[in-house]
Amino acid sequence: MRPAILSDPEQMLALVEKQKREGKRVGLVPTMGALHDGHLSLVHRCTEETDFTIVTIFVNPTQFGPGEDLDKYPRDLQQDTDLLSQFDVHAVFAPDVDTMYPPGASTSVMPADVAKPLEGALRPGHFEGVATIVLKLFQLIPADVAYFGQKDYQQTRVIQQMIEDFHLPIDMVVCPIVRDEDGLALSSRNSYLSTVQRQQAAGLSRALFHIRDLAGSGNLEAASLLKAASQILADASIDQIDYVALVDKRSLEPVQRVDENTIAIGAVRIGATRLIDNVLLAQ
Ligand code: PAF
Repeated sequence: MRPAILSDPEQMLALVEKQKREGKRVGLVPTMGALHDGHLSLVHRCTEETDFTIVTIFVNPTQFGPGEDLDKYPRDLQQDTDLLSQFDVHAVFAPDVDTMYPPGASTSVMPADVAKPLEGALRPGHFEGVATIVLKLFQLIPADVAYFGQKDYQQTRVIQQMIEDFHLPIDMVVCPIVRDEDGLALSSRNSYLSTVQRQQAAGLSRALFHIRDLAGSGNLEAASLLKAASQILADASIDQIDYVALVDKRSLEPVQRVDENTIAIGAVRIGATRLIDNVLLAQ
């Protein structure tokens, strides 16, 4: 079914309130568009678990830093809605920038400490932008449940903490990463990679899964696991490594010895393209 496309916040809010009055369970899938099978797995789950699915498509400028890929970020609303037509998506909310950030808008969310390390340290202001837009979307679309992907693991922690700290009346579901056959996590940014870079890129997931396998066979020392991972990255000719870390899955603080609460998480650059990935060691 072809979803209705809305860009007006009042219409959006009225539509959600109508569904809720009728007793329907409303699900929300926030995205920046350029939809791939990872996003579609969230959409599919939302349609299975709720009565009314809303997908938002908005490339949020405040979560991009200076020199990042805001201008070249892929945008194709027609293609995205074609893809969504395979599912029971009831509405797409695709506002413009002035709607979400009217001239003079200057209030933002200061995210929790979990936003500080890793991505937060390398992309100042990124999680402030994410938390602010997600709160705005939650206000305009007071859904019962929102679906996010585990690929942006730190983002899920920042949003979960915001939900808890602000007592937001919404549940959050984190869906597993969808990967290509060689293990590369699906990402809208994979489209920037050349054929050679695309092959190199799989080295990141190989390194993280190698950590998980070694830990599974009893090597629990973080330093030794990270050394083994850096060898895999070197073998894949990945030399721009922002971080590969073993951290507690809740606090995102580094650990010395891994256990079932540890997550292996990494960010690398392949040419000008920045890729992130993570693997829970308990899996
Ligand atoms: O994960 C994303 O696509 C974005 O960060 C989100 C959650 C839609 C906020 O812009």
